[in-house]
Amino acid sequence: MKVGVVGAGLVGATAAYALTLRGSCSELVLTDLDDTRAHAEAQDIAHAAPVSHGTRVSSGPLEDLHGSGVVIVAAGANQKPGETRLDLLQKNAAIFHDLIPRVAAAAPGAALLIATNPVDLLTDLSVRLAPGHAVIGSGTVLDSARFRHLIAAHAGVDATHVHGYVLGEHGDSEVIAWSTATVAGLPVAEFMAARGLPWTPDIRTQIERDTREAAAQIIGGKRATYYGIGAALARITERILGDRRAVLTVSAPTPAFGVSLSVPRVIGRAGVLDTVLPHLTQDEQDALHRSAEVLLQARRATDT
Ligand code: 2OP
Repeated sequence: MKVGVVGAGLVGATAAYALTLRGSCSELVLTDLDDTRAHAEAQDIAHAAPVSHGTRVSSGPLEDLHGSGVVIVAAGANQKPGETRLDLLQKNAAIFHDLIPRVAAAAPGAALLIATNPVDLLTDLSVRLAPGHAVIGSGTVLDSARFRHLIAAHAGVDATHVHGYVLGEHGDSEVIAWSTATVAGLPVAEFMAARGLPWTPDIRTQIERDTREAAAQIIGGKRATYYGIGAALARITERILGDRRAVLTVSAPTPAFGVSLSVPRVIGRAGVLDTVLPHLTQDEQDALHRSAEVLLQARRATDT
């Protein structure tokens, strides 16, 4: 149960910390071009192991990824305030062209979990650069968590008991699929009405905006997001390692759309085991096609 993390920046290190606190794996290796940084993060995280689950945490070169069941790839640049995820494509695709074949060679048999943005297009690229490896992008697992958190706050219930998916690009064109959202098995509007809770078009619009713009809001305040994505990466990793057949909105190549994007998928040790297209309204379906088109256009424009 070994996990590798490539890129010991805020996202990679926070994912490693989340894995350590959750006891998701027995061994964890951090690797980064800046080996001083990777070593310092590994040391700091290792000091959490004796008071959590005893995970063996170390840092080292890419060769140390050997034997990993999952390698999380979080290397590359992140957004500056005002930048979109798609603005990072050229820079991070260049990094991936060099990095992913070396990661794949160092960790035969590992599933690659891509976190770097723009995650959908870098998942597509990694599939091509790491033939024979299961490749999954973190996709909209985080956006779906943000959506559920916001609904839960209005419903006054535990967010783990609120369901609902954000689909498409992990980015500005993502689709907030209200028709998939339920609380206690009831459509959200019914749950709210039965309890006399306010549920107006304005509240819905605000939830959509706060879901879609969450990253920009947080980056505006503290220049980066990492706790939410760190926890999401730990959860996806656990589900792959444990071959759990979990249903999560991860990103993977989707022939119906010609590009990697997120829809609910059953995941396990072999990667994506099944893809489930939920019933969507016509508006949601149209928005999902537009989201795919945004990704396809960005891919064409940069020839990645
Ligand atoms: C996020 O959504 C920036 O993609 C990152 O938090």
